Amino acid sequence: ARLVVLVSGSGTNLQALIDEVERLGPETYGARVVAVGADREGIAGLERAERAGLPTFVCRVRDHGTREEWDAALAEATAAHAPDLVVSAGFMRVVGKEFLARFGGRVVNTHPALLPSFPGAHGVRDALAYGVKVTGCTVHFVDDGVDTGPIIAQGVVEVRDEDHADDGAALHERIKEIERRLLVDVVGRLARDGYSIEGRKVRIPA
Ligand code: GRF
Repeated sequence: ARLVVLVSGSGTNLQALIDEVERLGPETYGARVVAVGADREGIAGLERAERAGLPTFVCRVRDHGTREEWDAALAEATAAHAPDLVVSAGFMRVVGKEFLARFGGRVVNTHPALLPSFPGAHGVRDALAYGVKVTGCTVHFVDDGVDTGPIIAQGVVEVRDEDHADDGAALHERIKEIERRLLVDVVGRLARDGYSIEGRKVRIPA
C-alpha cells in the first residue's frame, strides 16, 4: 500500500513508520511511505522525510483565501501521490469536505488520549487537568468531526503523580512511545489484511 503521511511537528510517528518499512521491507510490512505533506515549513517532520529521500509538499492555510481552498489544495497535493492510505501523524489541522470526499475511509489519525475523552489539540493536558489516572492514545479513522471517527485501536498509559509537575510533557513522551508502536502496528495490519468500516465498527480480518 502507498502511504502519504501528514505532519505538523517533530515527526517521530512518521519516523517510526519509515523505520519499520526499512526494517521489514515494504513487501513484508505491506506498505511504504511515498510522500510527506505538512501544513507548515521548517519542522523536523519534513527534515526526517528529506533525510529518508521522500518527496514532500507543504500546504499552508495562510496561502489560501479560504479553508475550503486550502482543503482542496491539500487534497490535490495528496492525490498527486496516489495514496491507498493517508496517515495523519501529528497533523494539527482538521481536513475538510473535499479531502474527505476523496480519501474518506482511508485516512487514519493518531490522538494522544483515550477517545472519546479529551479530543482536540490538547488531549494530554486536558486529561491531566481532569485528573484521570489512566490515559493513552487512539488510532482512528478520520470523519468530519474533530477526533470523532471510528476507533481502530487504543493503548493505555498510567498517569503518575509527578506528571502534574511539567504540564504533561513527560506523560506525553510516555504516550508517544506507545503511540508510535500502535500506529506502526495498525497501519501495517490495515495495509496487509484489508479492513471494513461498518458504522463505528472497524473490522480487520485476521
Ligand atoms: C502525537 O502525540 C500526536 O498524537 C499528537 O502530536 C504528537 C505528534 O508527534 N497530536 P510527532 O510529530 O509524531 O513526533
